[in-house]
Amino acid sequence: MKKTPRIATLVGAIALSFTVHAQEAADPIERAVHVCAACHGDEGRSNKVMAPSLAGQSRDYTIRQLSDFRNQSRAETDVQAYMWGISALLDDKTIAGLADYYAQQSPAPGRAAPARLAAVGRAIFERGIPAKGVRACASCHGDRAEGQAAFPRLAGQHADYLYRQLRAFRTPLRPHGILMKKETLALTDAQLRAVAAYLQSL
Ligand code: HEC
Ligand code: HEC
Repeated sequence: MKKTPRIATLVGAIALSFTVHAQEAADPIERAVHVCAACHGDEGRSNKVMAPSLAGQSRDYTIRQLSDFRNQSRAETDVQAYMWGISALLDDKTIAGLADYYAQQSPAPGRAAPARLAAVGRAIFERGIPAKGVRACASCHGDRAEGQAAFPRLAGQHADYLYRQLRAFRTPLRPHGILMKKETLALTDAQLRAVAAYLQSL
């Protein structure tokens, strides 16, 4: 709880600089991207564990997430702290422009993950766990987790971020992840960690 005021101040400061820059901007998308880069990295390739990479992400998916932040339906603690304030400043046109921009950037390369854990995760990703009714993740997210349309790219994303999201789908805090609920409820935390480790390595 103690860190809340500091985060609020940071978001406030970023929001202010966003408004000021946006007014001067020849290209408002470029200005916005500059602000996003503070957390999401240059061209959306994040080297902060906390913030997901946006580079190479599906356009439709990014639009959906920014809209869900703005209407406050995606509501985990970190989203409230980091993304609610800034998304409130974005109109539909800017959201679409940002989604186009990030979809065109080359994705972040994968990062090493513990081999044994990743092997367990790979089996779940490619084949699912039929006995528990868990479908192959690849059937929606693509063979190499490259994503498409409403299905996000997962390849190369930080394992900690993925793991947090997988747990969030079990709760009402990501209501648009309806397709993910059944999958995540049937898997153990250890299995979620394994699949997150595999995805980080792609
Ligand atoms: C102060 C840091 C910060 C800034 C600035 C910021 N973000 Fe974020 N963003 C985050 C964090 C942290 C998360 C992950 C929250 C979580 O754990 O659920 C996130 C999540 C996201 C997601 C969800 C990604 C996914 O895979 O579901 C999108 C999209 C996003 N941000 C876009 C943007 C855009 C576009 C901007 C600039 C207009 C921006 N962010 C500015 C910190 C930031
Ligand atoms: C039936 C299709 C389907 C299957 C099967 C599926 N997913 Fe998803 N997944 C989705 C959709 C759709 C979303 C986007 C939800 C949203 O818009 O919030 C998603 C979102 C995610 C996210 C959030 C990404 C982010 O950037 O925040 C993760 C992580 C994820 N899926 C992992 C998995 C894993 C691991 C499996 C296998 C155990 C799996 N998915 C199986 C459809 C599917």
